[in-house]
Amino acid sequence: MPRLDTNLALRSWTERSERVLADCLPAETEPPFRLHSAMRYATLGGGKRLRPCLVYATGSALGAAPNQLDAAAAAVELIHAYSLVHDDLPSMDDDTLRRGRPTVHIAYDEATAVLAGDALQALAFGVLARAPLPPDRVVAMLRTLGDASGAAGMAGGQALDLDAVGQRLDEAELIEMHRRKTGALIRASVRLGGLAAAAAPEVLARLDEYAAALGLAFQIRDDILDVEGDEEELGKTARKDAEREKPTYASVLGLDEARERLADQVSIMITALSAIDYDTSALRALAEFTAMRSH
Ligand code: IPE
Ligand code: IPE
Ligand code: MG
Ligand code: MG
Ligand code: MG
Repeated sequence: MPRLDTNLALRSWTERSERVLADCLPAETEPPFRLHSAMRYATLGGGKRLRPCLVYATGSALGAAPNQLDAAAAAVELIHAYSLVHDDLPSMDDDTLRRGRPTVHIAYDEATAVLAGDALQALAFGVLARAPLPPDRVVAMLRTLGDASGAAGMAGGQALDLDAVGQRLDEAELIEMHRRKTGALIRASVRLGGLAAAAAPEVLARLDEYAAALGLAFQIRDDILDVEGDEEELGKTARKDAEREKPTYASVLGLDEARERLADQVSIMITALSAIDYDTSALRALAEFTAMRSH
């Protein structure tokens, strides 16, 4: 089989997820107009689309067709978009800038932001339930997304994040917080791609090693970028973690050690991928991007 042109594939998956998301979101011309408009504003026209790319990259490597992956790609990004809307609320991180634009509660209002998040989350499960796949596979995928989004995953991680304000966490506690708040959804993205392709359990296990390391690497990089990133490039407020007294990889370990931990995760990812007998070049490119990214 010819090897994948990774850059081309990543670009096409990013564009594809944009289209699929635009199609599944409710129209701004239908009431309630303000809610629909806020949902589209929160989701479309920005964002790196890392999670959809992970779904497409994993599923495609294992032989699934793009149309079998669309629902899962859209569903994880809808959950991610909802998590950002709520993360930015005054009662959470109180942020005014996201993806280079005013956050949803600033552009609309707080109640609309809460409802837009709620509705995006519900839409994610509705979209995934309609995936053109055998029902047992769809059920396994719904369970994966539910576990990753809820108290055991992202929402639980956000609760740990809020509890940690002003506290001194040790590295194990930091890992647990990151594993849930960011890692769970990234892991789910890879697993959803694997499940859509009916991957064998041992392949899913190797993929999960890759995804767990990617999730941690992603949040370590996010913590580093909060300290040394350029606000314009980030599209979100920098130096916010220190201002809000959040324990992060940068504050707990210092930038140099944080960078070392990031490099460790990259090695784990490469080792996990090399044990998989498929063309995982796109997953490797996503690992490198995650470690090096400047936004
Ligand atoms: C930001 O996620 C929030 C975290 C989980 C750290 P991304 O950096 O993937 O945000 P977008 O989707 O590209 O805006
Ligand atoms: C957000 O983490 C994680 C989720 C949204 C679940 P952060 O609070 O660090 O994300 P940014 O830096 O605001 O994007
Ligand atoms: Mg936060
Ligand atoms: Mg935040
Ligand atoms: Mg951050």
